[in-house]
Amino acid sequence: MQFVDTTKQLWNKLIWSWNPKSDKESGDAIVKNLLLHWFPNKITKGSLAWQYSLWLGTISFVLFVILTITGMVLMFLYVPSVERAYSSVKDLEFVIAFGSLLRASHRIAAHLMVATVFLHMIRVFLTGAYKNGQSVGSNRPLNWIIGVVLLLCTLLLSFTGYLLPWDQLAYWAITVGTNIASSAPLVGEKIRFFLLGGTVIDQGALIRFYVLHVFFLPVIVLLAFSWHMWRIRKDGGLAVADHEALSQTAEDVAPIKSKTYSLLGVTGGSTVHVQTSMVNEEKNSVPSAPHLVRRIVAVSIATLVVVVVLAALFPAPLEEPANPSVTPNPAKAPWYFLWLQEIVTDTTIPLGAFTINGALIGGILLPGLLIVLALWWPYRDKSGIETVGVWFAPARNRQNTIFIAICLLIIAFTIIGTFLRGPYWNFYWPWETWPTMPVKF
Ligand code: HEM
Repeated sequence: MQFVDTTKQLWNKLIWSWNPKSDKESGDAIVKNLLLHWFPNKITKGSLAWQYSLWLGTISFVLFVILTITGMVLMFLYVPSVERAYSSVKDLEFVIAFGSLLRASHRIAAHLMVATVFLHMIRVFLTGAYKNGQSVGSNRPLNWIIGVVLLLCTLLLSFTGYLLPWDQLAYWAITVGTNIASSAPLVGEKIRFFLLGGTVIDQGALIRFYVLHVFFLPVIVLLAFSWHMWRIRKDGGLAVADHEALSQTAEDVAPIKSKTYSLLGVTGGSTVHVQTSMVNEEKNSVPSAPHLVRRIVAVSIATLVVVVVLAALFPAPLEEPANPSVTPNPAKAPWYFLWLQEIVTDTTIPLGAFTINGALIGGILLPGLLIVLALWWPYRDKSGIETVGVWFAPARNRQNTIFIAICLLIIAFTIIGTFLRGPYWNFYWPWETWPTMPVKF
């Protein structure tokens, strides 16, 4: 009986934030909880709707947490030295209990995170959520820029992890990736030297990638993510809250009592104030505990289940140990850079004695241009505030169409590079068999 009571108490302690018994408990759940305290006490119904955000940002973060936890366990076993890296991964794969599942979970979560962050960016663009609405003090373009940094860090995190198994796949993917970077005029070789810590991929490169992968990049992602979330609070919540406020009648909107704070509680409160959201709380908002908390718990559990199931179904590959003198044919970059490798090949055109430098176009100029465009676009987009937080707002049709076309091209080139390119980067349909290639020494 005693045991049942204790278990019940423990369970209630665990779930009280998503099952509060009163308004007071509901408020306490947010204020007294380290993880929850950065959420507002109340949240608009539109922000909670599955179909608005598709919860892709939350899923991205859950994947980051899964990666951090599995990565920390992997660190107990992995040895970042050229002599021992491969054998330590092989031990993980074949000797250590659940080592294979652990490694596969880490790898699947990494692939999923790259894909989810990309999809999250698409969702943010198509809902015009990088634009300021009516909320005072909002700076959503800045949050978009923080997002671009998060996207680049996510790609780099995955790229630096790619080398660590020190097998053929790892070695040659990094060779292709860093060779593309080296094609920049004047500074190309310097960039490659900086990335590899030398002129060849060996111990210097391995330790550099390792330290970036397990320390610097995760810390940057964590800091940038905290800023990303804090900005959402400062911006008056998700962009859809601005849309909800706009849709309310003037009568609904008039008093915004509950969101007006005085200066450190010293002044009366009506002169210096911060407005977080203009939505009429009574009508359009619900307490974050339990509504938001329950959804976050559900999204986290679902993401974890998907990762573990996929990891069980698709074990992480481990090829032969890295061998600089055996070049696989084709040698491919990691999948999320294959659209660039495809463009590099398509734009490398010999014109008599002269060759158009595809690596410069596809490896440097094009991604550089896309990053600059992404950073500039929130300031260039002059569509009205009625388009903020709305999927496919008609006034943004033209830019949405161009954006979707660019994304579809990236996806199409990725698919071609991943599935349809064989030896010498020749085109093969999935049902065609590749010719057997002599191994190059
Ligand atoms: C590690 C990568 C990222 C994580 C973990 C992350 C996380 C989140 C989360 C949890 C939200 C709340 C809403 C939601 O779940 O969708 C959010 C919103 C937002 N994110 Fe991200 N994000 C990341 C990358 C990006 C990128 C690449 C961009 C754009 C370039 C971006 C731009 C935004 C913006 C503007 C919002 C506010 C959206 C709105 O008001 O509706 N984020 N992010």
